[in-house]
Amino acid sequence: APHFHYEGSQLYAEGVALSELAKALGTPLYVYSRAALKTAWQHYAQATEGHHALVCFGMKANSNLAVLKEFARLGSGFDIVSGGELARVLAVGADPAKIVFSGVGKQVCEMQAALEAGVKCFNVESLPELDRLSEVATAMGKIAAVSLRVNPDVDAKTHPYISTGLKENKFGIAIEEAVTAYMHAASLPGISVVGVDCHIGSQITEVGPYLDALDKLLKLIAQLDQAGIKLHHLDLGGGLGIRYDDETPLAPKVLLDQVFAELKAKGFDYLQLVLEPGRSLVGNAGVLLTTVEYLKLTESRNFAIIDAGMNDLIRPALYEAWHGVLPLVARNTATTRYDVVGPVCESADWLAKERDLALEQGDVIAIESAGAYSFVMAGNYNSRTRPAEVMVDGDKYYVIRQRETFADLIRGESCLP
Ligand code: LLP
Repeated sequence: APHFHYEGSQLYAEGVALSELAKALGTPLYVYSRAALKTAWQHYAQATEGHHALVCFGMKANSNLAVLKEFARLGSGFDIVSGGELARVLAVGADPAKIVFSGVGKQVCEMQAALEAGVKCFNVESLPELDRLSEVATAMGKIAAVSLRVNPDVDAKTHPYISTGLKENKFGIAIEEAVTAYMHAASLPGISVVGVDCHIGSQITEVGPYLDALDKLLKLIAQLDQAGIKLHHLDLGGGLGIRYDDETPLAPKVLLDQVFAELKAKGFDYLQLVLEPGRSLVGNAGVLLTTVEYLKLTESRNFAIIDAGMNDLIRPALYEAWHGVLPLVARNTATTRYDVVGPVCESADWLAKERDLALEQGDVIAIESAGAYSFVMAGNYNSRTRPAEVMVDGDKYYVIRQRETFADLIRGESCLP
């Protein structure tokens, strides 16, 4: 990523040497680049320019207040999935009219809070959720704007890379049952039907599955139109992939040019296009800095034991995800093949495997692509404090979340009398 680059042997985030940050703030440390967030946003802004569209940051990917505030300033909407996420976006002054509320398990209190705030729309995933939402809204004297999340069942055989998206049975309403579900929604007193949405998977690098899904949704919209149900927006979800290793990411413009062309060709350009990108807005805007505590050379493998673990960044342990590893100060000595592992008492506690690195004890390394689904998935296993988060802006930096303390770890706990 261009916002993280070497000057000489030193790795920088924008104008700040990362080794300086590690020294000043300690490790493990999440570092984000403000310029990288802005650049990622601009790719969407340019791709939607001149069209009726709304980009709602899938904030589950990174929900730090400073990150949310940046996107709010840039004009972003937000895709939320909980009352907690709603509280966060409201805390940065986001416009509720640009918030869509996704998720299969919305609780009554979450519906109430979202109705109170006046969100743009609820992305509803089941019939019982529709019934509950109508009741909650009616009791409050309100009408809930609703989009149904449809599972378009994009062919797994043609697009095996999103096959996990297909098995997600808990998500969405099967497309064959969608018309019936819409008729039911339209009959409910507390519901106003406004849209349709889908989210076909994540880390997608091809246009094909999106166009397949779009095609199915447009057929559904036409069917609904004939039944007298008029939709105002079409939400294609998130899912655009980023470069972790050697992937060729799908540029928003490449996808959206084709989507808008299709909408126009089929006479659906009256629809507002909504998107819910998460990873592609933040994934490569962050790195995780971590110190090499020990180099442990064994007969079968060499381990670089670092001070970050699976509790700080769980993606490798959970998905066998690949993240790049960069030294903060490049050495030109010979490399050794290491497994980069954490201090947690689990064999799954690794961040990178079989990497050729020139390391010495005490070196600091950067784990790349740690802006999405990284800090947000961190936990306190092994009673480890969660890392601090820092935002670099040009040659300045700001601590946007303090490192947790031991006092934080036991806050709220008590012993029996
Ligand atoms: N909309 C909905 C309804 C979603 O479920 C998601 C992500 C998004 C939008 C944003 O998708 P994105 O643009 O980030 O692909 N923890 C996993 C990723 C889980 C994605 C969950 N849903 C990981 O670390 O790869």
